[in-house]
Amino acid sequence: MPAIVGEHLTKVFGRGETEVVALRDASIEVDAGELVALMGPSGSGKTTLLRAISLIDPPTEGRITIAGTPVYERERVLIDDRRLRRERMGIIFQAYNLIPFLTAAENVALVLTLNRVPAREALRRARNLLERLDLGHRAGIHPATLSGGEQQRLAVARAVVNDPALILADEPTAALDTERGKAVMELLRRLGRERQAAVIVVTHDERMIEGFDRVYHMTDGRIT
Ligand SMILES: Nc1ncnc2c1ncn2[C@@H]1O[C@H](COP(=O)(O)OP(=O)(O)O)[C@@H](O)[C@H]1O
Ligand SMILES: [Mg+2]
Repeated sequence: MPAIVGEHLTKVFGRGETEVVALRDASIEVDAGELVALMGPSGSGKTTLLRAISLIDPPTEGRITIAGTPVYERERVLIDDRRLRRERMGIIFQAYNLIPFLTAAENVALVLTLNRVPAREALRRARNLLERLDLGHRAGIHPATLSGGEQQRLAVARAVVNDPALILADEPTAALDTERGKAVMELLRRLGRERQAAVIVVTHDERMIEGFDRVYHMTDGRIT
């Protein structure tokens, strides 16, 4: 059973003269443990597809099934999508959405405490993960004082700390140099393999393309 299936997804923004069709009958299917790339030019619908399948901004047509359970069908969200994201998904968007008044470690630990992990244990796990991402020395610092690359790695840490079944990452290496980009990809790959997570990574970056199991190409809202 695939970890996620999106079928015939269409997304229309606006109406009439301002109508934009951002997704056109796009279908995608990713198995547990699979690492999939989503590539395509700017404006081709990659971010819209990730936002649709995470139900942050659901499609206007189509069907989405997660681990065998229909979660979107006939223009309706069928489940508690916030809970689904909190418990099962790790999402890394281009705007990192870090919480400014929490330290780096607290930003990561918050995901765990929201999932009922005791605070001390949550902080311990957060710090361990930050070490792995070469951010251990920044654990006590607030996001605004981190560099762009550090913020991006912090966003990755926050997305994966809870061992999500599904990881959606929108250009997670864009702000990183080659070496750190590879480290982030390696982490995502390892989570996929070891934890059997399904991982979808939007990337422009040809350097990162090795090691993906499959590549979906998008053009003008379609999967080609
Ligand atoms: N909230 C929105 N309102 C109107 N149009 C949007 C919105 N979000 C995206 N679009 C349009 O949808 C198309 C696909 O955008 P996007 O998914 O961001 O592409 P990509 O991530 O591949 O660069 C673009 O034409 C974009 O302008
Ligand atoms: Mg985008």
